[in-house]
Amino acid sequence: MAILKIARMGHPVLLARAAMVEDPTVPEIRRLLADMTETLADAGGVGLAAPQVYSSLRLFLFHVPATRSDTGRALPLRAVINPEITPLDSVMVLGWEGCLSIPGLRAAVPRYAAIRLTGLNADGTGFEETLTGFAARVVQHETDHLDGVLYPMRMEDFRYFGYNEELERHPAPLPETI
Ligand code: NI
Repeated sequence: MAILKIARMGHPVLLARAAMVEDPTVPEIRRLLADMTETLADAGGVGLAAPQVYSSLRLFLFHVPATRSDTGRALPLRAVINPEITPLDSVMVLGWEGCLSIPGLRAAVPRYAAIRLTGLNADGTGFEETLTGFAARVVQHETDHLDGVLYPMRMEDFRYFGYNEELERHPAPLPETI
C-alpha cells in the first residue's frame, strides 16, 4: 500500500468528469482502493474521491464518525463505485464542509437533506439505500468530485467561507433556512 499525493484545487483533474468503473474487482481497482484507504487515514478526512488522487474514475471512500453522525451511530469506512444520487425531496440544508483538495478552509454549503444512493460495493455487488444528514452531505460532496464539481461551486453565501483556524476562533451560527 502507499500514501498517494492529493490533488489541490486548481489542478484540472479535479474539474474533469470521471469515467465509469467497468469491474471493481480487478487488481488495479483493489490496489487503488487500498491506497486510497491508507491516504484517507493519513490525511484524516471523512471522504476521498479517486480524482483527488489523480485517478479519474467514478469511485470514492467515505465514513461517518459517531461524533459527526446525526443518529450518533458511526458508519464504517466503505467504498462506493459508480454512484447515482436521487434527492428524495427538494429540502436543502446548510452545513459546514471541508475538502482535502482545499486544505485549511471550510464553508457552509447547501445540500439535499435526504438522498437515495445506488452503486456498487468493492466486491462488485449492487446496493441501494437512503441517506440523511451528514452521511447524505458527504456522499453528495464525494459524488460531485466525480463530476468535476468542488464545494465552492455549490456555495450561495460566501460570508460562510473561511480558514478553519479563524472560524474556530469566531464561530458563526448558520441560518436556519436557505
Ligand atoms: Ni472533497
